[in-house]
Amino acid sequence: MGVEIRESPVSDAEYAEMEQFVHDYLVASVQAEDEGGRMRWYPWHSAEYRFNHIRNVVELAEEIAREEGANTDITRVAALFHDIAKLEVDQDIHAEEGARIAREYLEIQTDYPASFIDQVCSAIEDHSYQGDIDDLTLETRSLIEADILDKVGANGAALMLLRMGYESRTHMDSAEMVGRVLERGEEAKKRVRSQTATDMAHRRLKRVRWFKEWLEDEIADIEPEE
Ligand SMILES: [Fe+2]
Repeated sequence: MGVEIRESPVSDAEYAEMEQFVHDYLVASVQAEDEGGRMRWYPWHSAEYRFNHIRNVVELAEEIAREEGANTDITRVAALFHDIAKLEVDQDIHAEEGARIAREYLEIQTDYPASFIDQVCSAIEDHSYQGDIDDLTLETRSLIEADILDKVGANGAALMLLRMGYESRTHMDSAEMVGRVLERGEEAKKRVRSQTATDMAHRRLKRVRWFKEWLEDEIADIEPEE
């Protein structure tokens, strides 16, 4: 359970500095990468994509935290750092490594209380937890739900279309590929628990469903699905 912190310990200037640090860290991770080590041509392997994803997650997580009564500062700082190590280390250790980097930054660069730093770091560390999110704190849950939501919806559909270009597919495949985004979204939605995130997921999935139907409606060679 979150420790009550009445006044926000995070000033706008401090937050902007942290954001810059995360951005620069991602850019440096890509620069340090071995040539061909990852599928770099896919949009989600770039520092720009990752940083944008982080900003989306911060915004979503903060809204969920506010509505669900979680501590918004713990949640937004955790969200900001959650994927900092994503481009540097393997997926299965990026959460733990992200928590380590965040702790080092927060302990050296800020005067935040130890309990605040601990809660931020445990949310980062637990954000790739695959079990039932009801086991976790409200702040960690808000972060995980936001992370799921960023992959669900119009943003996910746009990325899929971009990926189709890299794979030399034509727009005739678009309804099918957007259909996959929809399926994955429906699956991801099952992990979401809070009412706020459930409503957001519902709205986002509806947009993807519409888009898929519009594609089926407008493109002659696409057979509408039953
Ligand atoms: Fe993420």
